[in-house]
Amino acid sequence: MMEFTQNIRGNVALGINPLGCKQEVLNQINYVKSKGTYEGPKKVLIIGASSSYGLATRISLAFGTGADTIGVSYEKGPKNEKNLGTAGWYNNIAFRETAEDEGLIAKNFVQDAFSHESKQEVIDYIKNEFGGKVDLVVYSLASGRRTDPDTGETYTSSIKAIGEPVVGPNINMQNQSYYTETLDPATDQEIANTVKVMGGEDWELWMKALKEADVLTDGVLTTNYSYLGTELNHDYYGGGTLGLAKADCDEKTENINALLADINGKAQIVVATAVTTKASSVIPFFPVYCIGLYKVMAEKGTHETPIMHQDRIYREMIYGNKPEYDEVGRLRPDNWELDSDTQAKTKELILKLTEENFASDLTAYDVFYKEFSNLSGFMVDGYVEKDVTIEDLKALHY
Ligand code: NAI
Repeated sequence: MMEFTQNIRGNVALGINPLGCKQEVLNQINYVKSKGTYEGPKKVLIIGASSSYGLATRISLAFGTGADTIGVSYEKGPKNEKNLGTAGWYNNIAFRETAEDEGLIAKNFVQDAFSHESKQEVIDYIKNEFGGKVDLVVYSLASGRRTDPDTGETYTSSIKAIGEPVVGPNINMQNQSYYTETLDPATDQEIANTVKVMGGEDWELWMKALKEADVLTDGVLTTNYSYLGTELNHDYYGGGTLGLAKADCDEKTENINALLADINGKAQIVVATAVTTKASSVIPFFPVYCIGLYKVMAEKGTHETPIMHQDRIYREMIYGNKPEYDEVGRLRPDNWELDSDTQAKTKELILKLTEENFASDLTAYDVFYKEFSNLSGFMVDGYVEKDVTIEDLKALHY
């Protein structure tokens, strides 16, 4: 019997359990089904569809509104017993199989979304096999690097402070430690590169290509997930390189709105809540904020996982009657996180943390660790061990 071992380096998961990943996808599908159906889009393209926010969006739309979906992601399949590939690979498969069983189209493209070829392949598929047009485009990509499709130059993002260094506590899930970390300020080049990778340029390129190819419906919507945070994480997030990349997405929204005006389309920034994902676990200090925040939010009954958050966004806000926008038109489902009492209590709690108590009942370390483990198919509710061979895994197709 193949053994699946959870192998964590720092806050990066190396080991995966493919069967656990499948169960985790099924759990999310069941969550959406338990909420019933809602009226929404019918043909959806999700860029960054294989994990966390993008996957949760896809699950809510497919199983909540009966949408056909195209998912683009960059994942790796199994090579041998030591290298089983990435969790997103198996998430894509579990999603497609379940959606197809219900008569839905669930097409996966596993390739570099930043390239022109990738965009063209998706466009050809929409034209030839997906009914010709999409009515929603979700941009949920998170990446550490991007190759510019015109110049071929590869840019790497840096999660850094701006101006002054930031010193603060962080946690390491590999050895369950609490330590002090210093985040250096970024150089101008690092700032520019981070905006190039995580800013809105590629989102705009996608929308331009889709519009030019005439594969967007009249009234098309495109969403992009942002994060603003609060004073508790401003120095390393909102006020750091990532904050500037997110501000660039705000700017690109205007361009995309102008581009889509003649087809009555709209670009919408969705400021999403802090959740445990592959991308967020490696943001310096952020896990400390999360273990404090989640504790407070769980006590108030407002803590959400990606599936809970995305399902609420689309079901109740975008396609429901409870949207809340800020003064510049961004959708604000993060209002539960930003609630002033929640923030005050989180601050109070974080200030009490020490090496001795950070993983105790005082915080939601256990919740953060479980959610982190779930991303790689470990500690998944309802998981049942099964005998599986590497050949079985290799035979699975996305
Ligand atoms: P994630 O790391 O779980 O997922 C990223 C997705 O992008 C995956 O499907 C991956 O395969 C795909 N991807 C990466 N590089 C690619 C490439 N070159 N070509 C094709 N696909 C590629 O990330 P997460 O956390 O779900 O982030 C998604 C978005 O949500 C990001 O914009 C992030 O800033 C935003 N967000 C995240 C929050 C959080 O707390 N995690 C909070 C608010 C917003």
